[in-house]
Order: sequence, then C-alpha cells, then structure tokens
Amino acid sequence: FIFSAGICSALKLTVPSHTIHGIEGQPLQLTVDYNFNTTACEIQIIWLFEKPRSNPKYLLGSVNQTVVPDLEYQHKFTLIPPNASLMINPLRISDEGNYIVKVNVRGNRTVAASEKIHVAVDVPVTQPIVHTEPSSGVVEYVGNITLKCTVGKGTRVVYQWMKNGKPLHAGPNYTFSSNNATLLIVPVAKEDIGNYSCLVSNPVSAMESERIAPTIYYGPYGLRVKSDKGLKVGAVFTVSVGEAVLFDCSADSNPPNTYSWIQRADNTTHVIQYGPHLEVVSDTVAQKTRDYVCRAFNNMTGKRDETHFTVIITSAGLEKLAQKGKSLSSLAVITGISLFLILVMSFLFIWKRYKPLKGQNLITERHRHFQDMKVLWMILGYMNLWLFLIVAAVPQFQVSLFAALTLPQARTYLVQFMKSFSIFPISSSSTINNVYEGTETGNQSI
Ligand SMILES: *[C@@H]1O[C@H](CO)[C@@H](O)[C@H](O)[C@H]1NC(C)=O
Ligand SMILES: *[C@@H]1O[C@H](CO)[C@@H](O)[C@H](O)[C@H]1NC(C)=O
Ligand SMILES: *[C@@H]1O[C@H](CO)[C@@H](O)[C@H](O)[C@H]1NC(C)=O
Ligand SMILES: *[C@@H]1O[C@H](CO)[C@@H](O)[C@H](O)[C@H]1NC(C)=O
Ligand SMILES: *[C@@H]1O[C@H](CO)[C@@H](O)[C@H](O)[C@H]1NC(C)=O
Ligand SMILES: *[C@@H]1O[C@H](CO)[C@@H](O)[C@H](O)[C@H]1NC(C)=O
Ligand SMILES: *[C@@H]1O[C@H](CO)[C@@H](O)[C@H](O)[C@H]1NC(C)=O
Ligand SMILES: *[C@@H]1O[C@H](CO)[C@@H](O)[C@H](O)[C@H]1NC(C)=O
Repeated sequence: FIFSAGICSALKLTVPSHTIHGIEGQPLQLTVDYNFNTTACEIQIIWLFEKPRSNPKYLLGSVNQTVVPDLEYQHKFTLIPPNASLMINPLRISDEGNYIVKVNVRGNRTVAASEKIHVAVDVPVTQPIVHTEPSSGVVEYVGNITLKCTVGKGTRVVYQWMKNGKPLHAGPNYTFSSNNATLLIVPVAKEDIGNYSCLVSNPVSAMESERIAPTIYYGPYGLRVKSDKGLKVGAVFTVSVGEAVLFDCSADSNPPNTYSWIQRADNTTHVIQYGPHLEVVSDTVAQKTRDYVCRAFNNMTGKRDETHFTVIITSAGLEKLAQKGKSLSSLAVITGISLFLILVMSFLFIWKRYKPLKGQNLITERHRHFQDMKVLWMILGYMNLWLFLIVAAVPQFQVSLFAALTLPQARTYLVQFMKSFSIFPISSSSTINNVYEGTETGNQSI
C-alpha cells in the first residue's frame, strides 16, 4: 500500500469476505471499510460488476457526498458516502458475479485501493422427502432397499444421508447415486434397521427430511428358553416334584415369531402348545425326565429355529409329595411293617413257649428263656412306638423310609436287625437260618 505524509495517509480497504452467499429475493449488503479521515480529503467511490466472460459494468459512483448511479440500476443499488458499503436490494440470481469497489482519496496527492467480492446467489432448500422402494418390508439378504431423496426448491443442493442422526458413508452394502440423492442398500441385513433421513443443504440453508425406518424382516435369532424357577445347567432344567414351572421361549425376529412347544417321547413328537409360554406341572409328570423342543418360526423370512431342552424332576420334591397327602401310602407301609414285626414276635413267643425242647426238659432254662423274651418284647414294643412317633412327626423321615422301603435290601436289613436281637440259643445255627428264611419270604411255616 501507498504511504504519504500529511493528512492523507495510507489507504487500506477491508472486506469481511471475498465470497458472499446471498439469498435470492433478499437484500444483500457488501460491507467495505477503509481507514481514512474522510473530512480532510476528496473521496471517490466506484462500484463495478463483472460476470464471467463479459465486460465489467458500471453500477454507481460517488464524489464526497454526491452519488452518481447508472440510471439502469438506480433502484437496485444504494451507496451512502463516505460509507463505501453497497446495498443490493432485492438480490436476484442474475446478480451473481464479481463486485469491484475502487476508492480514490485525494489530499496533497491521490491514493487509491480496490477490492473484489464474489457474490453467489442461492435459493434456500425446502424440506426434502424420502421415498422408499419398496414401500413394504423387505426380507433380510433377499431384498434391496432404495431410498430416494427429493427436494422441492433449492440451488446447488448437496445430499447427505443420515442413519440415526449420523452421516452415512459408502460401504459394502451402501451405494450412492452420483449426486448422492439416492441410497441403495444391497444386500439388506438386520444391521440396516434404523432411522434414515436425508439432509439437503446449500450455502444458505439446510433441511433434513423426516426420519424413516424401512421395514426389514429377519430372524429368528438367538432362540433360548428361560424358566422362572428351577436350576438350569446347559439345556437341562432341574425342577422339584410338585412345582409348576413356566418356560419362556424367545428369539429375536421381525415380525414376531410364532412359537410352538413340542414334546418328544421315544420317537414320536407332538405339539403340545402354541405361544411363547409353556407351563409344566411336574406333579402330573409320570416319568422323571422329559424332552421338549421350542420352535420359533418367522412367517415372513420363512426361517425357523428350534432348541431342545430336558426337564428333570428331582426326588428332593418327595417331601412335598408327602405333604400333599401321599404320605398316607408310605404311612400305611410303615404300619404294615410294624404290624408284621409284632406278628413275627408273637409267633416266636408262642413257638418258643410251646415247642418241646430236645434233650433234657429243664424248667429253669425254659423259665430263663421266657424272661428273656419278656424283656425283648418290651424293648421291641417300645421301639415300635418310638418309630411311629418319629414317622408321624418328621415328614423327611417318612420320605426316607418310603424311599428305603422300595429297595429290596430293606427286608434284609430287617432280618439283620432281628438276628442281632435273637432270642434263640446262639449255638443253634439251623434255627437262625429258619428265622432268616421265614422273614425273607414272609411265610410263617417255621
Ligand atoms: C470534496 O471535499 C473536499 C474537502 O472537503 C473538497 O476539497 C473538494 O473540493 C470536494 N469535492 C467536490 C467535488 O465537491
Ligand atoms: C457503513 O454502513 C453499514 C450499513 O449501513 C454499516 O454497518 C457500517 O458500519 C458503515 N461503515 C462505516 C465506516 O460507517
Ligand atoms: C500537504 O499540504 C499541506 C497543506 O495543504 C502541507 O502543509 C503539507 O506540507 C503537504 N504535505 C506534503 C507531503 O506535501
Ligand atoms: C438387488 O440388487 C442386486 C444387485 O444390484 C440384484 O442382483 C438383485 O436382483 C436385486 N434384488 C431385488 C429383489 O431387487
Ligand atoms: C456424496 O457423499 C460423499 C460422502 O458421503 C461425498 O464424499 C461426496 O462428495 C458426495 N458427492 C456429491 C456429488 O455430493
Ligand atoms: C428411530 O426413531 C424412533 C422414533 O423416534 C425411536 O423410537 C427409535 O429408537 C429410533 N431408532 C434408532 C435405532 O435410533
Ligand atoms: C425309533 O426309531 C428307530 C429308527 O427309526 C428305530 O430303530 C427304533 O426302534 C424306534 N424306537 C421306538 C421306541 O419306536
Ligand atoms: C405372520 O406372523 C405375524 C406375527 O405373528 C402375524 O401377525 C401375521 O398375521 C402372520 N402373517 C401371515 C401371512 O401368516
């Protein structure tokens, strides 16, 4: 820039930007500042307009306070000297081009400066609309989705696709048209589910379309069975007898799957229920384990999935079984055993009393045996009563007894018990064998 001594110093024009984007139909101010003491000098301001490949046109000029416009444009451009800023009102598309401002200041000598401002005129965009092709849903890995963005008004429109509010970039399954106005999703996958929108913009405006979520059919995925109760290990559920267990089958899919429950017994299978829930009341389960299958079917994708699981009913629930009135039968068994014991003892007593002893008939020995028998009888009677009390008071004991009685060796234990309290002379091994056999078979032929 030029330096000169005295009142008229260096002249410098400043403009906020060398490119200005104007909105069609609106006023536009081209602001120009210069550092000068305007009162001391003669100031000339000239505005020119040039379009590419055409000569510059004179718009207006001023000297001191006097403005000399080009009569052709006098209503469009306004200049208020010594302010060099130019007002364009209204701005039209045809006003796009370069605006040149030249300021001359004459003091002892003349200094001059000029600037060029490019003005771009744009029409603001309106809200775009997205069209989905096809408008109905598409099946994963089968169909394609085309999203077309259309905008009613707007110049120099730039299209940007957004997924869930974030810019979408081209990828293996996302393809854009040359101007980005169309988005093609090939192939469609579950991951493509989301809210898509089209963001259109130009230098003077930006608008986003409404978010649309294409319908994508997929699944079933991740089929699994859960239960509200019971212990789950792998695909095996362990539940207690008498417990009502609710099984819940779920798999991710769109549209929701239809569920069916299948029970497998031997080689046959049959559907026992439809819907996502199955209630198994183990009370009614005859066998200790049961095999089930939950099947999920998506009627849009035509795909199905199924999961197998086993339900084991544990005998720990025998306690509950006993409490539910079935204790009656186990009590009956115990009563039977007790009566049997009493009966055997009675027989032994009678047999011992009236059987003629071999060899010498020693009354003292018989009497001794009789005394022994009396003591044993009392002990057994007491034990029997005690057993009854235990059984009646403690349900667990009933259960364990009930379980024990189902075992064949239980009777052997009974015999061992009797042997240890034998009333016979230990020397007679044949008698012991007889007693053993009699008890074992339950016949009193002895
Ligand atoms: C402009 O103003 C300056 C200083 O005030 C004066 O010297 C000059 O003559 C004026 N020019 C015109 C054309 O009025
Ligand atoms: C020139 O005019 C514009 C708008 O009328 C204003 O913003 C600007 O400050 C003015 N410049 C000077 C140097 O007064
Ligand atoms: C400019 O003119 C003024 C009087 O008008 C004078 O005093 C001054 O010396 C001049 N400066 C130069 C550099 O010529
Ligand atoms: C999906 O696009 C692929 C590749 O452009 C094409 O081969 C296929 O036929 C299209 N499928 C549908 C259902 O339009
Ligand atoms: C289309 O979008 C991509 C990024 O998403 C961008 O790099 C590219 O310049 C855009 N093309 C056009 C013509 O807007
Ligand atoms: C899509 O938009 C709907 C409604 O605004 C919202 O409920 C849903 O969570 C959105 N989905 C994603 C993936 O952001
Ligand atoms: C189950 O099927 C197999 C082969 O199909 C057959 O050999 C077997 O006998 C069947 N078992 C029952 C219990 O039906
Ligand atoms: C497919 O399944 C869905 C959800 O279970 C149901 O609403 C729809 O009616 C079914 N469509 C057909 C054609 O069966």
